[in-house]
Amino acid sequence: MSKLIDLSVEQGKDYGTGLVKFHHHLNETGLFDDDELAELIDNTPREYYMITHMNVEGRKMIWRNGDFNGLSGAEVLEAIKQGQLWLCLRGIEKFSPEHHEVMEQAFAEVGDVTKHVKTDRSQTHILISSPNASVLYHTDIPLIHHWHVRGKKRFYLWDETDKTVLPDETLEAVILRETEEEIHYDKKWDEFANIIDLEPGISCTWPQNGPHKVDNLDGLNVSVVAEYFTPQAKRKYGVYYANGFLRRYMGMNPTSTKTEGLVAYAKCALAVAVKKLNLTKKQERDMILSFLLDPKNIGDIINLQTKDQKPIMQL
Ligand SMILES: [Fe+2]
Repeated sequence: MSKLIDLSVEQGKDYGTGLVKFHHHLNETGLFDDDELAELIDNTPREYYMITHMNVEGRKMIWRNGDFNGLSGAEVLEAIKQGQLWLCLRGIEKFSPEHHEVMEQAFAEVGDVTKHVKTDRSQTHILISSPNASVLYHTDIPLIHHWHVRGKKRFYLWDETDKTVLPDETLEAVILRETEEEIHYDKKWDEFANIIDLEPGISCTWPQNGPHKVDNLDGLNVSVVAEYFTPQAKRKYGVYYANGFLRRYMGMNPTSTKTEGLVAYAKCALAVAVKKLNLTKKQERDMILSFLLDPKNIGDIINLQTKDQKPIMQL
């Protein structure tokens, strides 16, 4: 396989800590053409996909979870092209050896020029979304490496250290999984967002927890997204997890978010213990199935009545 990325050591020096943007050639592999994607969708087990529908209700954007409802991969793809849908195929390493192999090579090439940082990659997902879909303002728990393959999208990124756009208690709630990753957002913040236009062949990663929103601009959008941690990112996760636990369950008011030093290490140990004992589990939110793709009108959805809605099992 020929080289998949154009990234120099100099360009990659902020990998895992800052915004790094470079070119890639995944779109030349053919693995993301319609036929290949349709087959991939056909091969994705129920436990490994999430299809969501976005619509505006009142002044609020609502994001709900659905099911393919027996549609073929080609029909699902067509529904996404015509509808307001966002599909995540979660953990391609489990059901697509071809995509897994090409991403392993791409990440090996990234690793060759970012030897200064130790990364621990967990899952790699493929995102397929409608031409005019949006992803609401949110923050992701791990570091994210985003490879844009098809379509155009506008990515708005904010400074994760700015407590106005990301208060500590909000990040704690996301990390404790009390809330979906969407969080409070004010349109005025767009004025100071870092705006990045993603075209096919652009790859980027940004600081951990950097809040962002995405507006698709044109065409079916296809991206590969990998979650990863560095040792520093794991400590940040542990510190916020422990702070959230102490605030909610122990009546304390932790203010330090330092990820170095004895206190930080003690907090990380506490987070591991709390997670092991499942002490916060009952507060975690469920993912509810509330619509089906419509087999008669491709691109439409069938809303489920409350009595027919049920939790979706995900692995
Ligand atoms: Fe995200």
